[in-house]
Amino acid sequence: MVIVAVLAAGRGTRMKSSLPKVLHPLGGRSLVEWVLHQVNPLQPQRQFVIIGYAGDAVRSALKDYPALEFVEQREQLGTGHAVQQLLPYLKDYEGHLLVLNGDVPLLRVETLAHLLQVHQERGNAATILTAQISNPQGYGRVICDSQNILKQIIEDRDCTTAQKQNRRINAGVYCFHWPQLAAVLPHLQSNNDQQEYYLTDAVNALNPVMVVDVEDYEEILGVNDRAQLATAYQILQNRTKQAWMKAGVTLIDPASTTIEDTVELAADVVIEPQTHLRGATRIGSGSHIGPGCLIENSTIGERVTVRYSVITDSQIADDSEIGPFAHIRQQSVVGDHCRVGNFVELKKAHFGSHTKASHLAYLGDATLGDRVNIGAGTITANYDGVRKHQTHIGSGTKTGSNSVLVAPVTLGKNVTVAAGSTVTDDVPDNALVIARSRQVIKPDWQPKD
Ligand code: UD1
Ligand code: CA
Repeated sequence: MVIVAVLAAGRGTRMKSSLPKVLHPLGGRSLVEWVLHQVNPLQPQRQFVIIGYAGDAVRSALKDYPALEFVEQREQLGTGHAVQQLLPYLKDYEGHLLVLNGDVPLLRVETLAHLLQVHQERGNAATILTAQISNPQGYGRVICDSQNILKQIIEDRDCTTAQKQNRRINAGVYCFHWPQLAAVLPHLQSNNDQQEYYLTDAVNALNPVMVVDVEDYEEILGVNDRAQLATAYQILQNRTKQAWMKAGVTLIDPASTTIEDTVELAADVVIEPQTHLRGATRIGSGSHIGPGCLIENSTIGERVTVRYSVITDSQIADDSEIGPFAHIRQQSVVGDHCRVGNFVELKKAHFGSHTKASHLAYLGDATLGDRVNIGAGTITANYDGVRKHQTHIGSGTKTGSNSVLVAPVTLGKNVTVAAGSTVTDDVPDNALVIARSRQVIKPDWQPKD
């Protein structure tokens, strides 16, 4: 059993932003959401988030996490002061507290579980996560003996030149036996370079404290400025892309491709350069995506090709061909063996099977049956300036070039719409509709002077 506290009250001055640091987005989640995401599998008994700077913004950004308890740190007097705020909430608590910095987003749950396990097995007062890194600048330095028992943590700015040479750093992830921490917290002093109450001083006051080195130092990157934010994004992307390549996905040019960790890809998917996959996107086996695509919250079937196109919140079934330059959005559903070609936009459009809109069309709020053929320049006029209206197009129907279908309107099955028609009334099955004025020819006609 463990209680978790995430420190998220600091402003993050080095970000130079009006947005509190922990709300800065990192590939689909904010920094603090990443931390919460990583601790979730540990099934904490309670989860506290310490808020302060722009506390209301942090609180409302986390409204989808009902289990969280927010604790306000009115003045940000340091990480130790932040944890002091928990004292009234955990008066009779006898168990362990896992404290995480809200700006350390890349931790793996395995690492946290291991830290907790060592902590509990050894009966330590505290166990802290450390790493040995080549550029320790900015991090607290950790000095310990050969048995990994901590002697001291010193903040970078409080280090002597000799102490700065030490490459073992404090990751900002701590397990505490709460009753022991609670006993030392009220006695913290702020006699350091920043005049702050440091959590690291509470660690220094406990005994025994053990350090656990993280296997992959990339996990403990703390985000303090925009450059570290970009580094964190690269690490995250690398992780995700390596995992998909191992799972049988071809990434032709990983460097120009981004894949959020919420995306699911089948084996034998091929991703071409300049492709970006986001949110709850799934792509089936044998599909070929890119170059130049953005696909967000969409489900793509098997053996689908998509080139230079944008697809959001939509579904594409097996064996369909999308693009180049198609835009499919807002719960559109494209059936199997369909084609959506260049400069075609679908909004809330439903296609049956084998239906084609190959060029220059807008189909919004429309239902199309099977084997429909949409001619170039076909438009559903779905908006009367006040409301959106539906267009229904039966199976086997063909629209000629430059047809305007003024919704609400229903075309039956196997209808043919003559080119240039403006269709305002329903058309029965098997009919030809010509809705344009007849061509007039005046022979030997010349303009008058
Ligand atoms: C901290 C550690 C340092 C460690 C590093 C790892 C201390 C004193 N130092 O330094 O040893 O190497 O993290 O990334 O703890 N916060 C509050 N209230 C405050 C101050 C900070 O909630 O009053 C929160 C911040 O929002 C942030 C976290 O605590 O999420 C860490 O604060 P930050 O100022 O970034 O500490 P570092 O200087 O990085
Ligand atoms: Ca930090």
